[in-house]
Amino acid sequence: MRLDVWFSPMGIGPADVQGRTIFVIDVLRATTTMCAALHHGARAVIPVASTEEALRLAQTIGSADVLLAGEKNCVRIPGFALGNSPLEMTEQAVKGKTIVVTTTNGTKALLAAQGATIVYIAAAANLTAAGERAREALAQRRDVVILCAGRETAFGLDDAYCAGRLAAAALGGAKPRKGLNDAALASLDLVRRYRDNWERPLSYSRAGRELTRLGFGGDVRDAARLDAYPVLPHFHERRVTVAPQSQVHPAPPQPQPQPS
Ligand code: MLT
Repeated sequence: MRLDVWFSPMGIGPADVQGRTIFVIDVLRATTTMCAALHHGARAVIPVASTEEALRLAQTIGSADVLLAGEKNCVRIPGFALGNSPLEMTEQAVKGKTIVVTTTNGTKALLAAQGATIVYIAAAANLTAAGERAREALAQRRDVVILCAGRETAFGLDDAYCAGRLAAAALGGAKPRKGLNDAALASLDLVRRYRDNWERPLSYSRAGRELTRLGFGGDVRDAARLDAYPVLPHFHERRVTVAPQSQVHPAPPQPQPQPS
């Protein structure tokens, strides 16, 4: 089995994700916001790549139960009902709704993971649930990838620390000498550095500083709350919904023998 961390979805294609169990992290803020929405009763979250696609899809679905959400440069897209803040995803706002969302990095990372065997959504907000599922996948000898959305296709400290926490939970105290890539080892080092203090890596990160500067410091603090929205969302058939309680991690397809 392998446990890899990818710091950015840049350059990954269908062949890279095939056969893997992937956990997508955009702790500031997209995956935290999705956990908050589903925890508060949203029916589904549909990630799309652009504002135009969000508008088109909402029109095609054509239901009063559809809400548009998302940000550009961290700020709510004009005309959309919601931005990308976990604090906006109250039960009153989202219960029974389908949310079509587009964000700068988070939704792109999710879309890049399409084609994996299973795609889960992870953040501090659901770390225990995600960690248990990652541990289960490793126990079933599946290759696990923790995919960080990063910041503008680059390393983000907030996601890398969260990846380390998830990797540590998945390993459950085991110290494998092989099977981890260098990014996984670096993420585990960040956990040794910041220990269980989520607020430090989140608020020191570029995303955290930018959000605070723009007046979203409350979101940074909310995203640092461990297990605040304890759902385990998965991305399946283009929708993010709450994953089944337990899931057999299907084996990756085996290469077929070629006729001689
Ligand atoms: C993203 O998807 O790039 C982030 O979630 C941006 C944000 O915090 O609004």
